[in-house]
Amino acid sequence: DPRHSPSRGAQSRAHSRTRSRTNSVNGRFGADDFNFGDILGEGSYSTVMQATHRVTKHKYAIKVLDKGHLARNNKLQTALIEKNTLVRLGAGHPGIVKLHWTFQDEYSLFFVLDLARNGELQSRISKMGSLSVECSRYYAAQIVDALDYMHGKGVIHRDLKPENLLLDDNFRLKITDFGTGKILDSDVQTAKTFVGTAQYVAPELLENNETSRSSDLWALGCILYQMIAGRFAFHGLSEYLTWQKVKALDYTFPDGFDEQAKDLVQKLLVKSPTERLGAGEPGNPNDIMALKAHPFFASIDWATLWTIAAPTLE
Ligand code: ADE
Repeated sequence: DPRHSPSRGAQSRAHSRTRSRTNSVNGRFGADDFNFGDILGEGSYSTVMQATHRVTKHKYAIKVLDKGHLARNNKLQTALIEKNTLVRLGAGHPGIVKLHWTFQDEYSLFFVLDLARNGELQSRISKMGSLSVECSRYYAAQIVDALDYMHGKGVIHRDLKPENLLLDDNFRLKITDFGTGKILDSDVQTAKTFVGTAQYVAPELLENNETSRSSDLWALGCILYQMIAGRFAFHGLSEYLTWQKVKALDYTFPDGFDEQAKDLVQKLLVKSPTERLGAGEPGNPNDIMALKAHPFFASIDWATLWTIAAPTLE
């Protein structure tokens, strides 16, 4: 199936040209600077592949987007947003996948990204059923710290979920997939057609078509719940039924759910976006520092969060 290997196509096309033509018109990289390996993930318009830089032997994840398919579905803008969002985030945070370079050929756009060798947090949760409270605390803290940075740069993710949380060599978290990202120019944005994944979507998006930083905090509440409970906070038999539950705040905690985690989830899964813990502007009493100060995070040392060893996944 040709859809499954766009970059193999790109690579062999690149091979049929001379290195000097593909490699360095304006000093940029091209597909033939990399050896492509395994497929790491597939989306509707893209395939992520492992790739090794031929000269440095450094390994990356390269997201290959099919230009024709994007154009036919009016999604070229989405690809541009993803790139601009990643560029805006720069090299700045260990918890966010870094964009190293972009290039294109006739058929594809290529985003050269940090490789997160231990895959999606989703597959770990699925494999283990749920995560220990300690592990959940560590990953929730890493999400909070990355959100602090991202939101400070005026970027909201809008589709945070365990599939978009990758684990690097050291089992530290890296947020990826900014294809649904938004660069904020005012505080609250009206979403035109965008709706995230049903289980993590905030009620204001369903009710008023609004998103703000606070929608990412709602998703954090859903993710923390899921890590500990091993199931979705909101889940119906269809997307529509899930939305109904989100709008009605219809969820319950399983017996034995950690009390401090429960308190935090209850302060994040709040219908009014401005009242979620951490939703205030920087300097406001309810800013992200208030979220970091929640008792659930009492044992977290924010200064060494990205340098200490990750807890064993259990
Ligand atoms: N799957 C999607 N993006 C990835 C990345 N950057 N690293 C590893 N696996 C991925």
